[in-house]
Amino acid sequence: MDKIEIAGGASLNGEVAISGAKNAALPVMAASILSSGESHISNVPCLRDISTMGKLLAHLGMGFHQENGCVILNSDNITSIEAPYDFVRTMRASVLVLGPLIARTGRAKVSLPGGCAIGARPVNLHIMGLEKMGVQITLSEGYIEARASRLRGATVYFDIPTVTGTENLMMAASLADGMTVLENAACEPEVVDLADALVSMGADIKGAGTGIIRINGVSSLRPLDYRIIPDRIETGTYLAAAAVTRGKVKITNCRPEHAEAVISKMEQAGVKITRSDDTLTAEGPDRPAAVDIKTMPYPGFPTDMQAQFMAMAAVAGGTSIITENIFENRFMHVAEMKRMGADIKIEGSTATVKGVKALKGAPVMATDLRASASLIIAGLAAQGKTVVDRVYHLDRGYERIEEKLKALGADIRRIRG
Ligand code: EPZ
Repeated sequence: MDKIEIAGGASLNGEVAISGAKNAALPVMAASILSSGESHISNVPCLRDISTMGKLLAHLGMGFHQENGCVILNSDNITSIEAPYDFVRTMRASVLVLGPLIARTGRAKVSLPGGCAIGARPVNLHIMGLEKMGVQITLSEGYIEARASRLRGATVYFDIPTVTGTENLMMAASLADGMTVLENAACEPEVVDLADALVSMGADIKGAGTGIIRINGVSSLRPLDYRIIPDRIETGTYLAAAAVTRGKVKITNCRPEHAEAVISKMEQAGVKITRSDDTLTAEGPDRPAAVDIKTMPYPGFPTDMQAQFMAMAAVAGGTSIITENIFENRFMHVAEMKRMGADIKIEGSTATVKGVKALKGAPVMATDLRASASLIIAGLAAQGKTVVDRVYHLDRGYERIEEKLKALGADIRRIRG
């Protein structure tokens, strides 16, 4: 298992280009199932999750290859309708093939994802919505078995705005008979990107980005030729890295309007931020100020930035209250940060973080994708050496992070394990 070693204290300066958004590329890749032909998706990051999705689509009979940030998929022949447990347990986003498979073939057999480090993460809302659209679903031996002679439009209300639930149903509804209305739908930019991709295939979708999305089913769709949006969470991660190293970092190829909540909280923490359409320049303060955050569905503060923000709070001047409202177990990074000297108390879904003057480098372990990013940020700020183990979590969602940080002046290297 690879590790990443950081000697903390360097101030980050220079430019970093943001890669395509993993959480937009994954549903857009799944959308290619909806039509036959060859799809081209560009600005796709080179990540483990992307290759896992590619392998899953190949398992379904599709052609897949990725070169120079472009994914090419051929969906002429779907020869299997099964997404086996082995794929789904390594990447929950595999569940995104459920809606497209039913819409394309009338059948799907997709392993239930099971829980993960950050929470139970059920898919009951995906299933509820598909059943409203006329899909017969049985759960047996850990699999979702779905069958539908014809999908019909329906009005679906989500108790919770689920990102991949909204995406699964938007894809299924694109080829259903009649109108589907998704209410209390997720508004994330990645949902909008998928809607834009589906419209480029010929789908009729209105309202993506709001809580009510209307999809008027069409009889067929054409292959994709689409460019993925930049990754707003990678953007926030580099903002946090600048914030804790008194650095001056210009972040290019980004979409500031997708990161307003994070930008606002960074400015409250004393980070000086200037922006253009596709760049953000962040100047870190001598010491971040303490700031309270509550994670919420978009456009609220993203849960995927909670751990990275906690690394900032750990060295802030004052006490920050961080409330995690989306997942029930997304504080796995806290124990590791406390090994570095952080002063954090957890009570239920709230962490009270009393900033310390300096963290101390230590050997720590990554537990999930964003926790691993937060430990890298803590290592950049710490005195001494930090070694982050199990960085395969990191490789799922961050393209060449140690190269990008090294280019900004970080003393960081990967130890091949
Ligand atoms: C997506 O996960 C993202 N993944 C996650 O990013 C992100 O943290 C999450 O949305 C929230 O923004 C992808 O897009 C591939 P949800 P998703 O369904 O869709 C509950 C990362 O780090 N829920 O929006 O699985 C659920 O338990 C990953 O890149 C149900 O109860 O999240 C959670 O509490 C981590 N029943 C809440 O809704 C359901 O059927 C939001 O989950 C579905 C969800």
